[in-house]
Amino acid sequence: MTVVRTRVGIVGAGPAGLLLSHLLAAAGIESVVLDSRTREQIETTVRAGILESWLIELLRQTGASDRVDRDAQPHQGIELRFDGAGHRIDFRRLVGRDVWLYPQHEVLRDLIAARVAAGQDLRFGVVATGAQDDGERVTVHATGLDGEPLTVEAEFVVGADGSRSVVREAVAGSQQAGYFREYPFAWFGILCEAPPSAEELIYSNSPHGFALISQRSAAVQRMYLQCDPELDPQAMSDEAIWASLRERVAPHPLIEGPIVQRDVLRFRSFVASHLRRGRLALVGDAAHTVPPTGAKGLNLAAADVVILARALEALLLRGDGSEVDRYPEVALRRIWKAQQFSWWMTSMLHTVPGASEFDRLRQLGELYSVVESEAGMRFLAEAYTGWPLG
Ligand code: PHB
Repeated sequence: MTVVRTRVGIVGAGPAGLLLSHLLAAAGIESVVLDSRTREQIETTVRAGILESWLIELLRQTGASDRVDRDAQPHQGIELRFDGAGHRIDFRRLVGRDVWLYPQHEVLRDLIAARVAAGQDLRFGVVATGAQDDGERVTVHATGLDGEPLTVEAEFVVGADGSRSVVREAVAGSQQAGYFREYPFAWFGILCEAPPSAEELIYSNSPHGFALISQRSAAVQRMYLQCDPELDPQAMSDEAIWASLRERVAPHPLIEGPIVQRDVLRFRSFVASHLRRGRLALVGDAAHTVPPTGAKGLNLAAADVVILARALEALLLRGDGSEVDRYPEVALRRIWKAQQFSWWMTSMLHTVPGASEFDRLRQLGELYSVVESEAGMRFLAEAYTGWPLG
């Protein structure tokens, strides 16, 4: 059995785990990062795409990415479509902030490259099975690439290991301990090879179901259709996908092209019952899940990490544990605001199977009360572009 000793053991090399090791290293705190996936899997899985501006700034200022200067595209607003017409929410005018389109796997490539260049102990293909704080030692138990048991002994352990976190049990008491909401729909996501169909994102509420037109680059686009959670992504023909997208954003024209990837994203809202126990803490999807409609998941994960990194600096460099004590309270304020926003955007924009005519007309009333009110649009813009980190 191999035992590795470090200051902070981090389970999960997703955006949260990698950003945490990066921020800790900048403060002179060493960490070990484990992930069950390969580097290639991590760098190629298609995920979210919208970053709040403070996160772009953080990646730039801490030297994690110089590519954001070249490749991240500012988006000054979004369009809400409903009742056959588009309504622009102008973030720049309303709150003076943009969001940035920079795909999550590009963030991961940047962070992995920066960590590897700095000599970070980053172990891929290592399956963590659990974590423990027995009062004396904090440990992560794992199985290495060679099938040999591996133990990480640290002064603090962080679960950044996603929605199926193995660290959660040691923090929250069980895998399931927390607050949930399930939704009766999912998103069918595609990547297609075509020029952008719109300059900004279009979130469309239609009687046929929700659709989202997003972008990736000049040549590749990302689009989503509300679907049944049980839909087999291979069961729909390309023509049927395009026909569905067209009718949901009509009369806005779509530029079609070969569909090169398809996936189904399940919807769920979740907040773990505890974010910290002793010298163990959870960040990102291990701590909470939001439905993707508000583009909050990645940004919320990064916000947790910024708060926890500061708290760990106080603890590990100055012996001051008060910020770690306050981590759940500080992080949860933002987490529940993001939960509320993601739930609100989801419920306002999707068609609920079996909804009555009252429900449908009330939903249109809600959408008009947002887009015909400065205060309504500003509320949406504030949340979408991200609240200040404080
Ligand atoms: C995406 O581009 O993948 C995307 C954008 C906005 C969302 C969700 C996903 O709300």
